[in-house]
Amino acid sequence: MASHQTTSLGLTMLWTRQQKRQFDENGFLFLPGLVSTDEIAELNRAVPGLLAGDEMHDGMHRERERSGAIRQVYLTHRYSPPFQRLSTNPKIVEPVKQVLGEQVYVWHSKINVKDAFQGTVWLWHQDYGYWMWDGVDPRLVSVMVFLDRATLNNGCLMVAAGSHKWGRLEHYADEKTTSYKQWCVDTETLKHRLTEEMIQPVTGEPGDVLFFHCNLLHGSGHNMSPLPRKSIIIAYNDLDNRPRPVDNPRPDWVVARQFDPV
Ligand code: SIN
Ligand code: MN
Repeated sequence: MASHQTTSLGLTMLWTRQQKRQFDENGFLFLPGLVSTDEIAELNRAVPGLLAGDEMHDGMHRERERSGAIRQVYLTHRYSPPFQRLSTNPKIVEPVKQVLGEQVYVWHSKINVKDAFQGTVWLWHQDYGYWMWDGVDPRLVSVMVFLDRATLNNGCLMVAAGSHKWGRLEHYADEKTTSYKQWCVDTETLKHRLTEEMIQPVTGEPGDVLFFHCNLLHGSGHNMSPLPRKSIIIAYNDLDNRPRPVDNPRPDWVVARQFDPV
């Protein structure tokens, strides 16, 4: 084991050398059951209140599907105590520091709702495909915490193992496929690069956690099932990688201007 630091449950917080190697090799690491059933229950109790409300009435930012269903809620890590605790939970933050460095802060967070039957696709993209334009280097890590079971039917995340090693690919803005402007990789590039063998569906249970590199190609399909597929993605940035000034900086709900180390 890489460390003797333990949680109250006695679980080692830091990744082993082998886990770190897997992350470096594949661009992601999946840890089943990292967040406890009690913690997930507390988070899920807060969710209905967070989904309700106008686009931005309480500081949080909401995106909707064309159907009107809520697609995403940004900034719950600032305004909802259980989500705030999750974003600073050492089980999550310590491994992120192992990858990025000693001081990290929350770049942004979003609950992705993927509601039953209504949650729509996320086209293939790398998060750094658009974060590059925010004036940072590719030193960010995203952490997806499953709030519901994720299955092939309800549009689980799909990742392309090893794709982070390609570096950043060109992205274009798709404004047609969903209600949400998505930066994504064009079909010709995908045909050239992405093989069926690379694609791994990330199915799992509430409390499972996926850590992934900001250049990992990922996406997901429509939710065809009666089960919602809620998750929260918290993205962390190295404090030394704060955004440089750019033309047309994006708002604070998506590119945080609060740099409190976690
Ligand atoms: C994302 O890339 O932010 C969303 C992917 C998903 O929730 O399926
Ligand atoms: Mn993404």
